Amino acid sequence: MGVVASAPAKVILFGEHFVVYGEPAIVLAIDKRAYVKVETRNDKRIYARSANLNIAGYFEEGVFHPEKGGENARYKLEPVKTVVDKVFELAGRNAGLNIEIRSTVPVAAGLGSSAAVAAATALAVAKTLDIELAKEEVFRITYEAERVVHGTPSGVDPAIATFGGALLFQMDTGVKPLEAEMDIPLVIGDTQIQRSTRDLVAKVRRLREKFPAVIEPIMRSGRKIVLHAIEAIKQQDLETLGELVDINHGLLCAVGVSHEALERLISEARKAGALGAKLTGAGGGGCMIALTEHDKLDAVAEAIQRAGGIPYVARKTDVGARIEP
Ligand code: MEV
Repeated sequence: MGVVASAPAKVILFGEHFVVYGEPAIVLAIDKRAYVKVETRNDKRIYARSANLNIAGYFEEGVFHPEKGGENARYKLEPVKTVVDKVFELAGRNAGLNIEIRSTVPVAAGLGSSAAVAAATALAVAKTLDIELAKEEVFRITYEAERVVHGTPSGVDPAIATFGGALLFQMDTGVKPLEAEMDIPLVIGDTQIQRSTRDLVAKVRRLREKFPAVIEPIMRSGRKIVLHAIEAIKQQDLETLGELVDINHGLLCAVGVSHEALERLISEARKAGALGAKLTGAGGGGCMIALTEHDKLDAVAEAIQRAGGIPYVARKTDVGARIEP
């Protein structure tokens, strides 16, 4: 039996990296999800396993014992343990648990896989202990887990994994749902190059510290792009949105987070008729997105594939983290 919960992956349309410094970002939850199944055990171990990542191991009295995947298993499962501890704190009791992670979200690709796993784990563990978590608590616990993975996350990934839909996110004001009546047709292209968000965030930080007078105006331009994009979404103006996507990518190149594989996919997507294309998430590999009119989705997806990427057409989902029926 057990309890199963899930949470969505995401794409950042505008504002990644700059969001870490207080600028706004626009983010969409997409129809790829992480699923986490939790059941109690007779001992006090916290046993966790991810079929996709081929890792497994258990925590006992604070010590991790890998069964599959060695150090990588510890690194990947540590945030799951953080989530479990936070939920135990809220419940005022603990238990031995089996945690099984099944995800359809590519890992370390900029689509928020770690936040989706953390949010789903929080809900499933809470339900197993018979407590209900408010969305705000799921967000807060997921944020704590992301700190273990990324160091200084903005909170945009935990927010979208928790709430779903289309959000305007800013660190000081939090989340605001965007009335995105507009369909935002996107092709995602995965370079399949895994990278570390922590390292890329550190790279931008170093550049900002070295050249504040250069980098800060770039980040303020990022904010203005978001403001124009909110208006374009209201007006259902896909063409303007595409132009803004291209400009945003230029800014991300300027702060050094693109990659030649991303550039290849972006350039081919544009040639195949995308209205705009950019990297999404931390960059340095991972995924790009191409904003594309419906009748060109197939052509853009094929171009991305020919250029060596794995394409898929993403659909927005309004379903945030939830217990599966
Ligand atoms: C990662 O999905 C987005 C970044 O802006 C980091 C963050 O906001 O925590 C690169």
